[in-house]
Amino acid sequence: MSNQAQETDGQQATGKRSGARIKIGIVGCGEVTQIMHWPSLSQLAELYEVTALCDISPVVLETLGKRWNVGALDTDHRELVGRTDIDAVLVASPHAFHAEVTLAAIQAGKHVLVEKPMCVNQREAKEITVAQQKNQVVVQVGYMRRYAPAFLYACDAVKKIGPIRFARVRDFLGSNSLIINQTSAVIRDHHLPKSLQKEAIQRDEELVTEALGGNRAEDIKTAYRLMLGLSSHDLSAMRELIGMPSKVLFAAQRAGGRYLAAAFDYGPFVCQFETGIDNIPRFDAHLEVFGEHKNVRVQYDTPYVRNLPIRVFTTESNGQGGVITSDAHPAWGDPFVAEWKAFYDNVTQNRLPKSGPEDFLLDLELFTQMVELMREH
Ligand SMILES: NC(=O)c1ccc[n+]([C@@H]2O[C@H](COP(=O)([O-])OP(=O)(O)OC[C@H]3O[C@@H](n4cnc5c(N)ncnc54)[C@H](O)[C@@H]3O)[C@@H](O)[C@H]2O)c1
Repeated sequence: MSNQAQETDGQQATGKRSGARIKIGIVGCGEVTQIMHWPSLSQLAELYEVTALCDISPVVLETLGKRWNVGALDTDHRELVGRTDIDAVLVASPHAFHAEVTLAAIQAGKHVLVEKPMCVNQREAKEITVAQQKNQVVVQVGYMRRYAPAFLYACDAVKKIGPIRFARVRDFLGSNSLIINQTSAVIRDHHLPKSLQKEAIQRDEELVTEALGGNRAEDIKTAYRLMLGLSSHDLSAMRELIGMPSKVLFAAQRAGGRYLAAAFDYGPFVCQFETGIDNIPRFDAHLEVFGEHKNVRVQYDTPYVRNLPIRVFTTESNGQGGVITSDAHPAWGDPFVAEWKAFYDNVTQNRLPKSGPEDFLLDLELFTQMVELMREH
């Protein structure tokens, strides 16, 4: 969307104006749609109406269609994006299909909220960037952690911290199922044809191989997939909090690519990154920035239990030989709801999302640099 377009009256490609409900078509009705997006969209019923669902599984489609009272059900995303009764598409299918669905939606003149990662490799990201600019629709990447009021509060606190001396980004968590199986009942299709499963695996393999520039060892591929799936949250939030690093100083993977460490060069300071997925049902994720007199840490909890507070901890000198600590969560509410509110404003006010296609490309650039420094192990 050009700046010129932004300065106009907010009229959209689909004619959507502030005040009207945005009609959403959902592609991919699995875990994240059922546990996070559907409840968020229902909570925001004055802003959104879900009018169509798409999933390759007829079982998932029919069950959710009845449960959610949505009549338009498609097993092919091309049918959904062509519908005239949708203004915007939520893309929540597996990663390997994100680019294809996003491009089809853009070409049909629909706005898009695409789950992270926006796509798998840089070629796809560039295609989406070009298509978005040509068609002047909103494309927002679902980095909900960056829309949380607590994160914005931390960004503000970091601006006032003085010279940064060090930063740390950490994300250790147990497999999602350890939490989801105890807290949600997700409708899944355990009898999808093997050919569909095979096609998805093959497509993912081809896109990852293209991203890595040829055949790479399995542990490097696993590391890249971890970056796409989990680290994309952490590193995109890092970029918003403290900017884009000038380069990656080191990056390493172990345990078959399931644990990663890296250091980013910010000139006057270094940001250390550490991540891994294990079998402990907890969520230990934070970004911390260290100044001379004050530290700011934003601490996330699992997204799979809605409305858990994201906390901002500060530690500072009181100037009299002592220490003051604070523990804030500036608002209640779920970051997925915050992300959907921002999407509504972006669509109705013709704004460029902060987490758009060009922003996502920076994440892929970092992942590429990290992978280049990683050796097989
Ligand atoms: N923002 C977050 O924190 C967050 C959390 C979880 C997942 N996600 C992202 O959401 C996406 C989906 O993840 P999930 O955990 O819901 O996965 P899932 O496997 O539970 O659900 C995916 C759904 O898509 C369907 N599907 C598969 N291929 C399809 C196709 N070609 N067209 C239409 N539907 C198709 C499947 O049948 C399934 O119902 C992933 O890209 C993931 O990274 C984001």
